[in-house]
Amino acid sequence: MKDLLQKLEKDALAEIAGAESTAALQEIRVSFLGKKGAITDIMKGMRDLTPEERPVIGALVNRVKDTLEKAFSQQLTELQQAAVAARLASENIDVTLAGRQSFRGSLHPVTLVSREIVEIFGRLGFAVEEGPEIEQDFYNFEALNIPRDHPARDMQDTFYISDDVVLRTHTSPVQIRSMLKQQPPLRVIAPGTVYRRDSDLTHSPMFHQIEGFLVDKNVTFGDLKGILTHFLNNYFGQGLDVRFRPSFSPFTEPSAEVDIACVICNGKGCRVCSGTGWLEILGCGMIDPEVFKSVDYDAEQVSGFAFGMGLERIAMLKYGVSDLRLFFENDLRFLRQF
Ligand code: DAH
Repeated sequence: MKDLLQKLEKDALAEIAGAESTAALQEIRVSFLGKKGAITDIMKGMRDLTPEERPVIGALVNRVKDTLEKAFSQQLTELQQAAVAARLASENIDVTLAGRQSFRGSLHPVTLVSREIVEIFGRLGFAVEEGPEIEQDFYNFEALNIPRDHPARDMQDTFYISDDVVLRTHTSPVQIRSMLKQQPPLRVIAPGTVYRRDSDLTHSPMFHQIEGFLVDKNVTFGDLKGILTHFLNNYFGQGLDVRFRPSFSPFTEPSAEVDIACVICNGKGCRVCSGTGWLEILGCGMIDPEVFKSVDYDAEQVSGFAFGMGLERIAMLKYGVSDLRLFFENDLRFLRQF
């Protein structure tokens, strides 16, 4: 019996040492130490022993059990540590691997122009206002003193949604909306998208404008000239030549168009300025008393000026872009340059 126990101990230790997983180890443990295991089997034979042999074999069984338990728990610890080490190795992050470059977007040139202009006027106390792109006839035309028979209402120019609703053809309706909402004094700058039935090299059916206006007591054409000259010098460069030409607009009186010395040829004359040396950059004027009437302002008490300009045209001049369509094609090779 003693021999049997010693052989069993040897076999068990060898099996334990060879176990490659905790599950396999558990099976080995049951086969030796479990209720139906090999040691239990041997202990059943104890009844046939003499009273003298019994304590000797009993002590030996306990020692073997003890040895095996220790071997099991040691092997278990080793297997668990090996499993953790293997997992760490497999999940290891290779910090020397180069990262993937994420693509960083840039602002659209028209957005850049808009933000820069808003910022310049912001420093002069102008606040941003916005209006809807789907606009009522009243705001887009009627209240701006554009009568029913004005050419700007021609079907050639305007996208009509219904008799009374249009895609706004300019940002000027924001003047009306702002003045109906607030009382003077007022300084507003209003960037936005506008629509016209027009499409060629220099015209797109959708484009962008920025509108500005100021209403207060005793506002004069001198104020208009001063602020616009300040703006153009800030935006295009100090010392830039600016000229005001008389013009017509239904919602301003008097009205003017503003030219700057051609930024391409410095006023010498080139293809971009058609040899004139000048570039038309915006329209402006003193707000017509008819407009004040439609928003219930007293033209005897207040006066004001307004101006509007096309953002794509300004972006073309500022960045030297010769084809308007580039702004709307979303070609990343173009857009990434800004
Ligand atoms: N709304 C005009 C246009 O779309 C531009 C304009 C001209 C705006 C004169 C004004 C202005 O505020 O006073 O062409």
